[in-house]
Amino acid sequence: MFFKKKIVLGITASIAAYKAASICSRLVGMGAVVIPVMTPNSLNFINPITFSSISGNKTIIDQFRNQKIIYHISLSHSADIFLIAPASADTISKLSYGIGDNFLTTSAISAKCPVLIAPAMNESMYLDPIIQKNIQRLERSGKYFFTGPKSGKLACGEEGLGRMEDEEIIIEKLGELLSHNNDLKGKKIIITAGGTKEFIDTVRYISNKSSGKMGHALAGEAYFRGASEVILISTAKNLSPPYGVKVEYVENTGEMKESLLKYFANSDIIIMAAAVSDIIPVQKYDFKLKKKNDILSKIKFKENEDILKILAERKKKGQYLIGFAAESGYSTIDIMEKIKDKNADMIIANDISKEGIGMDSDFNEVDIIKKDGSIKKLARNEKRIIARGIWDEITEILITP
Ligand SMILES: Cc1cc2nc3c(=O)[nH]c(=O)nc-3n(C[C@H](O)[C@H](O)[C@H](O)COP(=O)(O)O)c2cc1C
Repeated sequence: MFFKKKIVLGITASIAAYKAASICSRLVGMGAVVIPVMTPNSLNFINPITFSSISGNKTIIDQFRNQKIIYHISLSHSADIFLIAPASADTISKLSYGIGDNFLTTSAISAKCPVLIAPAMNESMYLDPIIQKNIQRLERSGKYFFTGPKSGKLACGEEGLGRMEDEEIIIEKLGELLSHNNDLKGKKIIITAGGTKEFIDTVRYISNKSSGKMGHALAGEAYFRGASEVILISTAKNLSPPYGVKVEYVENTGEMKESLLKYFANSDIIIMAAAVSDIIPVQKYDFKLKKKNDILSKIKFKENEDILKILAERKKKGQYLIGFAAESGYSTIDIMEKIKDKNADMIIANDISKEGIGMDSDFNEVDIIKKDGSIKKLARNEKRIIARGIWDEITEILITP
């Protein structure tokens, strides 16, 4: 798992800094190439010679020392994974605001690989509302992952939440991220997200509640699992674009279809997470309809194009097509019929009649229903965790001969 993997090990100014030496030693013992990076403040807690000796690599501290190459970029871009253990409240907060004022923060910001953070601090620091917000911001980015802290005796003598996670668990989590990191290697992926808007006139439109959060989470996760190209066709301009993903913004179903057809032939996996408006106005007026001019008689609707079906008709051998079904209650029989009808390989169904999940929520709860009729249930969780579970299922199918 770790053999020949390049791991940047970041150490910050916490009492727990000494524990990083043991983590370094374990990783080196498993064949990893560990590059230690220390914040200048962490030198108050442990000597860099410790990490240089254990890893066999020079410990990097000063970001302006190496003038021949831009080392924070070349190092972070060549790393398979980044681990910051222990991570101080200070470094976590800097990263959450993109502040790169030392070699560790600058290289973490420029990293293209996942960054695993193991916080260690006093409970009052960890539970501070600003620190909690900063952790959430990093987690939501899709690039930063957290492990711990755990409860127990703290360096200050108090009992509480804030001890750095156990070494074994940190290493296990690192291995998990590394193995996921490559399971979409070489794959070209298209994901749609958000609700399409069909304009009636220049100001009015028909749409739905879809926020695009599920599709954005799926796209961000795909990038970190090593996909060679992730194209996100999204209506959700208000969401920040996921890291490493090419985003094409569209507004209506016609534009979404055009964009999909541009990339479809060259793609391996297509996930239709967007909620395409089922109905569109028969006519779109290029002026604002006046209320007094019998507005209701002028607005008529027709069924919209079914883009999942259009793609299914063009699907080639080797392409994997996934649809979403947001329903107020559904039966597996209905979903199986949909899979057949749309020539899809998988449908991800969610019951939008349930409180606090699905469209417009940060949470979801889904049933992953495959062509062979098997079902995998993913319990209610944040959409980024659900996205991970969905990719776990897809990659398992693609890897299993
Ligand atoms: C004895 C001592 C122990 C400290 N332990 C921690 C700690 O465990 N976690 C933390 O977030 N800050 C701790 N701090 C505060 C940080 O060292 C301080 O915020 C520092 O600026 C962090 O620098 P860095 O993030 O650049 O490494 C400690 C400070 C002292 C003096």
